[in-house]
Amino acid sequence: MQVIRNIREVQARADAERAAGRRLALVPTMGALHAGHLSLVDAARERADRVWVSIFVNPTQFDDPADLEAYPRTWESDLEACRKAGVDVVFAPLASEMYPEGADTVVEVLELSKPLCGAARPGHFRGVTTIVAKLLLATKPHLAVFGQKDFQQLAVIRRMVRDLNLDVEIVGAPTVREADGLALSSRNLRLDAEARRQALVLSRALDAAEGAVSAGERDGERLLSLVREEIARAPRARIDYAELRDPDTLARAPDRLGAATLLALAVFLDPASPGAPPGGAVRLIDNRVLQPSD
Ligand code: PAJ
Repeated sequence: MQVIRNIREVQARADAERAAGRRLALVPTMGALHAGHLSLVDAARERADRVWVSIFVNPTQFDDPADLEAYPRTWESDLEACRKAGVDVVFAPLASEMYPEGADTVVEVLELSKPLCGAARPGHFRGVTTIVAKLLLATKPHLAVFGQKDFQQLAVIRRMVRDLNLDVEIVGAPTVREADGLALSSRNLRLDAEARRQALVLSRALDAAEGAVSAGERDGERLLSLVREEIARAPRARIDYAELRDPDTLARAPDRLGAATLLALAVFLDPASPGAPPGGAVRLIDNRVLQPSD
């Protein structure tokens, strides 16, 4: 496994792989790798001859400097995990190379970036689309794999690739969960034991909504009430948003569900004592595409 830090070098390597007729897959990450990231590596390997992982904690997608500061950095164990997973190249550029002095260009998907996490985190998706465009241009993959856990991110990236005619296939991979249902996330490490227990309300709320849809419920407001009730069972959980949206356009779903509908959730897990310093809350997201069958 090779570690490449330099953009010119990774571009030259991509050209050589392409000239040799090999199919390249990129898995973009910010490190702190867990089984969710590694499932993307597996999905990539099924579809390509070479699997490259990028590790770059992208400063422009953090709206809160404290969040960027607190982001876990586990370089040595990330490299070990990549080696074990059979990754061919780790691309880990320096921030000074990705954003040189005077960098003045951004990529923004205007409408799809506005609702849900975009409303809660101003500028976040502009940072994501700008860095993903730059990573794709640096590594020139035939395909790139992203997790459905970050549903809006995947939708925004698909739209960017379509609108800019980028010559890359975007693959979405299913969310990997702990045995009890909690979606894997690097943020889970910041939960104390009680918050970790209470964080289960996210997947339980999604299950409750899915169960209600299978039992024939089609009323959006009633489904959202069920979700809110479920989350209210955890005293330290606080809803950021709970919304029903069209999975492709992210437009608000109609009052009565007719077609596949995204149920998207963002929930804060608050610190144990009300007097704890701010910034102690951990924000988790999860989602489910509800499938009314008739
Ligand atoms: P990061 O949070 O490191 O996630 C990297 C990829 O792993 C994303 O595509 C994300 O959706 C996926 N992922 C995270 N948790 C997952 C889980 N439990 N199951 C399956 N996939 C999971 O997302 C980013 O980094 C950044 O925004 C990035 C796209 C790299 C741009 O900086």
